[in-house]
Amino acid sequence: MNFSTEQIRAHVAALGPWFHNLDLGGVMTAPDHFLGDYPRTKWRRFADSIPQDLSGCSVLDIGCNAGFYSLEMKRRGADRVLGIDFDDAYLAQARFAAEISGLQVGFEKLSVYDVASLHERFDVVLFMGVLYHLRHPLLALDLVREHVVGGMMVFQCMLRGSMQVEETPKDAAFFATDAFDAPSYPKLHFIEHRYAQDPTNWWAPNRACVEAMLRSSGFELIDHPEEEVYLCKCAGRPAGEGAVYPARGASA
Ligand SMILES: C[S@@+](CC[C@H](N)C(=O)[O-])C[C@H]1O[C@@H](n2cnc3c(N)ncnc32)[C@H](O)[C@@H]1O
Repeated sequence: MNFSTEQIRAHVAALGPWFHNLDLGGVMTAPDHFLGDYPRTKWRRFADSIPQDLSGCSVLDIGCNAGFYSLEMKRRGADRVLGIDFDDAYLAQARFAAEISGLQVGFEKLSVYDVASLHERFDVVLFMGVLYHLRHPLLALDLVREHVVGGMMVFQCMLRGSMQVEETPKDAAFFATDAFDAPSYPKLHFIEHRYAQDPTNWWAPNRACVEAMLRSSGFELIDHPEEEVYLCKCAGRPAGEGAVYPARGASA
């Protein structure tokens, strides 16, 4: 179906509010976004670190929202792109955006905690801007590592607190408590109420913490192209076999 600019504008208004500022036939979906032209400005800072040609690749976009990154992956020629999110309103936006953009992208309602039900590993997994919205972030990371990452994971997280990173202590004596006060100690700040008026923000890790959590879930950090963005691949098994050991029977 062909939409006039006025029809696109009307659909965009009806499907709002939008978090992703997409350009749909000249109609911007979130022109007043508090982060500016988001996420395009962030994408520009790490776009060159993702292969330009994704032909032959499958992509899973976890927490796809209105599909900005899913659409960009399809524009790079990925064979199959699947965006998942647990929010129906965002999925409706993503489906409309794909239709207006003329791009074949699948969008499904699925929580990150249920990725095992996909029974598929993807060449590229995007796990961006979701971790700090989860009450159980390590469980989610372990599940993503265990069930869907087949090649590269592009990971992004809001970071708060110190950006210092030092080698994580392998052990410490019981009464040696000073280490915990060091700015570079991995810290996951718990948000009991709201942060930035958003009740879905549960955690605000510092940089050392997010890097340690990724390693602990069995990821190797292979690039850090933007302050909040990491490219990862699967390394060893999650520390302590992770939180997902009951699922091992199914994947073994
Ligand atoms: C801050 S937005 C990030 C959107 C996009 N990935 C990006 O980087 O711009 C967080 C998204 O994660 C989704 N989300 C939150 N919890 C989720 C869950 N348990 N499973 C799947 N998606 C979730 C939200 O609905 C929202 O679309």
